Formats: sequence, C-alpha cells, structure tokens
Amino acid sequence: MGVISEKIVEVISKYTGLSPMWFMIMVGLTIISYKIVSGMFVAVNDYKAVEKMKEIFEEDMRREVVELGQLTEEQLKEYDGSDPKKPLLMAIKGNIYDVSRGRIFYGPGGSYAMFAGRDATRALALMSFDPQDLTANTDGLSESELDVLQDWELKFQEKYPKVGVLGGQPQLQEEVVETKKAV
Ligand code: HEM
Repeated sequence: MGVISEKIVEVISKYTGLSPMWFMIMVGLTIISYKIVSGMFVAVNDYKAVEKMKEIFEEDMRREVVELGQLTEEQLKEYDGSDPKKPLLMAIKGNIYDVSRGRIFYGPGGSYAMFAGRDATRALALMSFDPQDLTANTDGLSESELDVLQDWELKFQEKYPKVGVLGGQPQLQEEVVETKKAV
C-alpha cells in the first residue's frame, strides 16, 4: 500500500472508528439510501404533474365547445394553452378550430405547441416550424404545397369542431358574448 492510502486508512479509523471495509460499506449504504429517498421525491413530483395533466384533460372533456364568432389574431392568441381553463384554438385558412382534444400535440410542451393560438396555414403547407410561417398568407405557394395544405384542412375539419373565423377589427367584449349567446 502506498503512503497516501495508508494515511487515508489511518485517518478513517481515527475519525470514524471503522475499518476501511466497514467505512466503504457505510458510504455505499448512504449513497443507496440517498438514491432511494430522492427517487421517491421525483416520483411524487411526477405523480403531481400527471395528476395536473389529468385534471386539465378532464376539464377539456367537460367543457362545452363554444362558438366564438369572429376573433382577431390578438384574441386568438389568448387560446394558446397558457390558460388551462380556456380551450386550445388554432386556425387554418382563417377558420378557427377547437383543438383541445389534441392537447397532447398543441398544449404547452407539446410538439406543435407553437401552432396553438395562431393561424398555421403557411407553416402547415410548407411543413415548416419557422415562426414567420405562422400566418394565413398563402402567397407564392406551389401546387403541391397547396395540396399539402388541403390535406391538413381536411384532417382538421374531420377531427376538430370549427368555432369561429379570424379577421376584422377587434370586437368589443359584449359583442363576443352576444355571439356566444346566439349559438
Ligand atoms: C420529423 C418529422 C415529423 C415526424 C416524425 C412527425 C410525427 C408525427 C406523429 C407521429 C404525429 C401523430 C399522428 C397521429 O397520431 O394522429 C404527428 C402529428 C402532427 N404533425 Fe407531425 N411529424 C413530423 C413533422 C411535422 C411537421 C414538419 C409538421 C408541420 C410543420 C407537423 C405537423 C403535425 C401536426 C399539426 C400534427 C397533429 C395533427 C392532429 O391534430 O391530429 N409534423 N406528427
């Protein structure tokens, strides 16, 4: 044994009263206990996160689909999932769909969360994640890109209820409420 190891063994037995073997066993047990206990905390956090997600999904199922009439781009942004009490909305070609049942895709943290609260027409046509393509502008799109867009539109029409249209001037809050009541 080298001088350094001998010194370490000497220090260990002087301060802990343990032989090197027992010292290693105690260190090992401490590490294992720490892993188990911290593992339990991670599990609790995961559990809480799952419960929270479950609540949000249940709220989505309970909430009635509300016709919102005409919304401005600014108003649409309020439905981007940051408020879990509100439905998730997304627009294609100016038509707004309630995509709440696709929260796994469009909710916060979802692969396509960037589309929530936006008109994703150009992004879908181009299969692009560039934020600049989050627009209803179809200028300069090719035939095949317009075909891709058409496929997406059909998919959304089949899967999600249409709840409004984009455009116009910002509506007064009362007018929006009126529209809701009327439907
Ligand atoms: C690496 C490439 C990609 C892969 C592997 C991929 C994979 C997937 C998968 C597995 C789904 C779920 C399908 C389902 O169960 O209905 C999905 C959905 C979707 N993908 Fe992709 N994707 C890719 C690229 C893209 C791109 C570039 C876009 C658009 C810019 C896009 C837009 C979407 C949308 C909007 C949905 C959700 C459709 C819905 O609401 O049901 N994906 N993708």
